[in-house]
Amino acid sequence: MPARLAILASGRGSNLQAILDAIQAGTLDARIAGVFSDKPDAPALQRVPEALRWARTPKSCGGRDAFDTVLADAVAACAPDWVVCVGYMRILGDAFVQRFAGKILNIHPSLLPRHKGLHTHQRALDAGDGEHGASLHFVNAELDGGAVIAQARVPVHAGDDADALAARVLAVEHPLLLEVLRLAASGRLAERDGHATLDGQPLFTPLPLQSPKA
Ligand code: GRF
Repeated sequence: MPARLAILASGRGSNLQAILDAIQAGTLDARIAGVFSDKPDAPALQRVPEALRWARTPKSCGGRDAFDTVLADAVAACAPDWVVCVGYMRILGDAFVQRFAGKILNIHPSLLPRHKGLHTHQRALDAGDGEHGASLHFVNAELDGGAVIAQARVPVHAGDDADALAARVLAVEHPLLLEVLRLAASGRLAERDGHATLDGQPLFTPLPLQSPKA
């Protein structure tokens, strides 16, 4: 049975598109069970048929806690094997994280634990980093703090601005996401005692991206 993916996205959805393309190409054994957004006008939603789209705002639900519960109920209703955050710009509440513990993945555009939070590309430039990249990690209650599964690295070039660096990182984000989703979909990936495990063995250092192509 293909793994059922619940996708959480707030924006453009290029990572979602990479997933859709891989499913279509037969290189990822998964299906999209639903796409969930806190932004009803998120372009990501337009990438899937209407029946798979869900969007609410915290305001429309009567506040952040209520939104979290409504979102969690909607996600649970599509019975996902994995909840995959791709550019989901809202912090998931504790109740949500606990309800789907060990099943929530996030892609973050930095080499965690460096540059948690927002504006990672500009912060890498400001810090004078020679290397930057993306991390795929389990989501826990701490922002961008869960166990890192895999990372992809890119060089920072002299003269880069945040946009140039973001584009270089995005090009490795997509294959990184797909590599990890293949492991997840084939049942090889899990979280145990705060560690990511692959084939039952803890990953003490993040897996490197194997293939730079999606
Ligand atoms: C990506 O850079 C992702 O790492 C970050 O938000 C961006 C989302 O891009 N969390 P997209 O919406 O998938 O195109």
